[in-house]
Amino acid sequence: MSSTSSFSENTPHLLVLGMGGTIAGLAPNPQENPLQYEAGQVGVDSLVAQVQSVVPGRIKLVSRQLANINSRNLTDAHLTSLGLAVREALLDVAVSGIVITHGTDTIEETGLFLQATCGKLAETQSKRVILTGAMLPSNALGADGPSNLLDALRWASMPFDNCPSGIYAVLDGRGCMAMDLAKRHATALNAPLQNAPSSSVSLINPSWLSGVKAVQAGWTEDLPIPQAGDWPWVEILTSHAGARPETITHWLSSSVQGLVLAGSGHGGLHDDWIKPLDQAMVQGIALVRTTRTGAGATLPNIPELDPPGCRASGPLTAPRARIALQLALNAAKQTNKASKPLTWQDFFARIADLPEVR
Ligand code: SIN
Repeated sequence: MSSTSSFSENTPHLLVLGMGGTIAGLAPNPQENPLQYEAGQVGVDSLVAQVQSVVPGRIKLVSRQLANINSRNLTDAHLTSLGLAVREALLDVAVSGIVITHGTDTIEETGLFLQATCGKLAETQSKRVILTGAMLPSNALGADGPSNLLDALRWASMPFDNCPSGIYAVLDGRGCMAMDLAKRHATALNAPLQNAPSSSVSLINPSWLSGVKAVQAGWTEDLPIPQAGDWPWVEILTSHAGARPETITHWLSSSVQGLVLAGSGHGGLHDDWIKPLDQAMVQGIALVRTTRTGAGATLPNIPELDPPGCRASGPLTAPRARIALQLALNAAKQTNKASKPLTWQDFFARIADLPEVR
């Protein structure tokens, strides 16, 4: 662990975990082309050093580099090590809050993962975990990373009567529950929060806050973090005009355990997929149906009845539904030995049926 100051790590502090991303990116020619750059080049200690002098109060900061990657290369093993580091920090009495610097491309997967595996622990330990990132590399003119990091540090340390403990994300002056992140724009500074019912960093909106409390009341128990080599294999497939049965039959001879099906409209799937999907369910492959439209919930039995082996994703986008299905399959495997084992659908429902924050 690297410390940005000489104090002991037993001193109360905020922990900044570095995962990489554009916030840690460098462009070779930032004046001419700030969007041509490499993510994950600058250490989290340097990012923290840049803002240390303007952090409010006398808050101590400690940084720890867990990875320094472009988040499109995020692996199951990265998520395991992040989840374990977050849990360890939540249980550490010296850590008062946690900020994670992360690439925005897959930040929505990480947001859902942290809510489902650490959300209850954050609440019971009365701490906030704040994800942040940037859309411009660190050496671009007007780079958004420093202000996003500063906002995340503020959010992590603000009084609890303003916002409860839990897992959040902050970008471009706005915040949301981390499980509501969805990157829906390639370049906008608020890209991962565009669809999220976000609240401004300086002014928490009361209706958003009551939504957060409803979600937290519905989230009773964290799901286990899969071990690094033990994540169930789940793929995302998109239904489209001209879809072929082979897109599904291809997987029937593999060891894939789940498929997230991004359908058109309400999450409708091409008729040419019906027979091979029936076979997938016979083989025990878990199916989750979602919408490829990019917004709106996928409701059960709409437009047609869902067969028992296929469940609608609710508000979860395809990337989030994929993580939820991996966690649900893993949790179901672990309860198999219980006298009344729970199914992957039981665990998936815990995530997908949470109240929506509006
Ligand atoms: C990444 O996700 O690591 C690159 C893109 C970004 O952070 O915005």
